[in-house]
Amino acid sequence: MSLFPPDFLWGAATAAYQIEGSPLADGAGASIWHRFTHDPRLMIATGDTGDVACDHYGRMEEDVALMKRLGLQAYRFSISWSRVLPDGTGRVNQAGLDFYRRLVDRLLEAGIEPLPTLYHWDLPAALDDLGGWLNRASAEWFAEYAEVMFRALDGKVKKWATINEPWVIADGGYFTGVLAPGHRSIFECAIVSRNLMRAHGRAVQAYRQCGAHEIGLVLNIEPKYPASDSLEDLAATARADAYMNRQYADPALLGTCPEELREIYGEAWDDWSPEDLALACQPLDFVGINYYTRSVVRASSTAWPLFGERVVQDAPHTATDWEVFPGGMTRTLLWFRQRYGDLPIYIMENGAAFSDPATSAAEGLPDSERCQYLAEHIAAVRDAIAQGVDIRGYMVWSLFDNLEWALGYAKRFGIVHVDFETLERTPKHSAKLYQRIIASNGAELDQAAA
Ligand code: FCB
Repeated sequence: MSLFPPDFLWGAATAAYQIEGSPLADGAGASIWHRFTHDPRLMIATGDTGDVACDHYGRMEEDVALMKRLGLQAYRFSISWSRVLPDGTGRVNQAGLDFYRRLVDRLLEAGIEPLPTLYHWDLPAALDDLGGWLNRASAEWFAEYAEVMFRALDGKVKKWATINEPWVIADGGYFTGVLAPGHRSIFECAIVSRNLMRAHGRAVQAYRQCGAHEIGLVLNIEPKYPASDSLEDLAATARADAYMNRQYADPALLGTCPEELREIYGEAWDDWSPEDLALACQPLDFVGINYYTRSVVRASSTAWPLFGERVVQDAPHTATDWEVFPGGMTRTLLWFRQRYGDLPIYIMENGAAFSDPATSAAEGLPDSERCQYLAEHIAAVRDAIAQGVDIRGYMVWSLFDNLEWALGYAKRFGIVHVDFETLERTPKHSAKLYQRIIASNGAELDQAAA
């Protein structure tokens, strides 16, 4: 028995810098990720770059054919801003725009719905030179770029996402510095958080002027569980949740900022003006949620910023050390509806890195841990649907093994294996399982459990 709605959308997700390769081809401008991976002072520990990645830029047509063979109904990808606008604003690079036009056309011919995300972390380097997301003008830059894409593709594209995971952009890029552009300042983190949400709001406004379909925002939500019932642990848990989850969802969906942020940021915090809050809070057609894991929080006097520390559970973990906790998916979805109301939700990312066994052509590639992870998490989505949450689709992260940002190519999230020497693609068992889940609209989950 499947409890997924008949028009539930099943797909897989990727992001431009993680898979495309050829970052400077055909007139593209550099992005901050290109810089970050090439600058010896910033360079990610593995030395990996996105120069070749999966060469999706060169193999797009065969990749779409593979998606079709796997039965995908939707493909979530991101657009590289600096392929389309090499300087970030102004001049449009026709060849870059044409790549995404062709991708969308091929997807539609294959019967696959294109789900583009405008910003998945690869800011044009030319805009970083002007301060990047620290510059309040970034909201206007982003709206200009978004409008170029809307005018080129709205109609063929029916669902747009503005920004992927603003928390990761601000925290990883400007506070911990593990992601591009590699800054380490809590003051910058606070400024960037606000500008990202202003930019999101400006892009939605631009869409209402020239677009005719749907637009939303993609948030990563990691539910926080207290390590004990002590008041200290409960307060630390609330702060962790405010910083990672509500910091972005509240402005976008409620037009407010969580109270806890003042305490967390201390002197780095500036209250948002009513205008900024109003800009961030535009009516959305849907929200994308990315769920991977939970964290259990214990108060700590040394951990910054006043969060407490993550308590490692005695439970299975993925190769990125994330606890496997499917119940957190259901809880997140129920919490989201309770706090933010009955908006349509798409799971825009969910998946896991595990060290896969070596490829064996005849047998395919048995990745039983990933199969189990996906089946359990998709079942957790079904539980939330059964409890009335309006969930319209599910995208596996990821279609391909790819550049897992600062962790490089070693962390493999794909349901399709990529040999980074030969660039050969081989569907893993998880791809075949997912194909059956899609074909049965989820009923396969009961087979898998039986
Ligand atoms: C998410 C990112 C995605 C990928 C997964 C594992 O935070 O959006 O690009 O790195 O994590």
